Amino acid sequence: MKQTLRATHLAELGERLEGKVRDIYLRPRDVVLVATDRHSSFDRIIAYVPGKGEVLNRLSAYWFEQTQDIVPNHVLALPDPNVTVAKRCTPLPIEAVMRGYLSGVTGTSLWTRYEKGERDFGSFRLPDGMRKNEKLRAPAFTPSTKEKDHDRNVTPQEIVETGLMARDLLARVEDVSRRLFLRGQELARARGLILVDTKYEFGLDADGALTLIDEVHTPDSSRYWQADSYQARIARGEEPEYFDKEFLRLWFMDHCDPYHDATLPEAPADMVEELSRRYAAIFTQLTGEAVSATEENIEERIRRNFAAYLRRAS
Ligand SMILES: Nc1ncnc2c1ncn2[C@@H]1O[C@H](COP(=O)(O)OP(=O)(O)O)[C@@H](O)[C@H]1O
Ligand SMILES: [Mg+2]
Repeated sequence: MKQTLRATHLAELGERLEGKVRDIYLRPRDVVLVATDRHSSFDRIIAYVPGKGEVLNRLSAYWFEQTQDIVPNHVLALPDPNVTVAKRCTPLPIEAVMRGYLSGVTGTSLWTRYEKGERDFGSFRLPDGMRKNEKLRAPAFTPSTKEKDHDRNVTPQEIVETGLMARDLLARVEDVSRRLFLRGQELARARGLILVDTKYEFGLDADGALTLIDEVHTPDSSRYWQADSYQARIARGEEPEYFDKEFLRLWFMDHCDPYHDATLPEAPADMVEELSRRYAAIFTQLTGEAVSATEENIEERIRRNFAAYLRRAS
């Protein structure tokens, strides 16, 4: 049976912080990011998906490597399939969102705003007559602020005017984000996928250098569509075939009030398995590599692999 990593308590790694998906250990010179199998939605954990942590960590590692000529990244070492040892950076206060298509379902998505008649998006305009899910002539940089409860769209002008970030630094973030996104689209396309949109996080390292941090082009930070069926489906007015985790959200909305209930019902096992298969499949489609068939306790494996890493490093 494949094991699931719900949380880690590796006191020997350092002071532990808990993100929604990652356990973060602060060490004097670096930070250890452990990607767990926690699956979040509605700003809470709704399921534990076997193999998901490994996919997020290894897929990010793949993309960090494929983009290191564009911008330096935080990766120092990969001692375990679920673990990245990273440069500890000071995160910038925005999420760098790049969008390649006129799509989306949420209230702040480009399509929702376009459909309501909006054409001027602050730093770019869109022409009349565009169809849902059509490709934008050039990818759009639509940053948002990192706020506790929800992310808020903010224009580059507002970011500078409110003193959130200096103009030069923001210009670099935009330029780098564009180049990362184009590289992502190019490599994904060669694997039969369209990179639709994504979110980058940047930080400044100890020397003040702009550094790509967190995760890159994972299904949690990005949307992917299958390329081969895209044209025919949008021509028929259908939604593209996409990496879909919505079915689990819908199940929760049908079976409880995920925004208010103190405890949630357990996600159905067959749905969790399906989600696990989808994460593994997109990882393999993008990288050509297989996920490991983990049968041992993952926290124990991490402990052992990390100890071996420390011995090698010393
Ligand atoms: N190199 C880094 N230096 C400092 N913080 C980082 C670095 N890489 C990622 N982080 C932060 O670690 C956290 C990752 O954990 P995650 O579970 O994804 O958190 P969240 O719930 O905020 O999405 C994020 O808050 C991210 O900003
Ligand atoms: Mg995160």
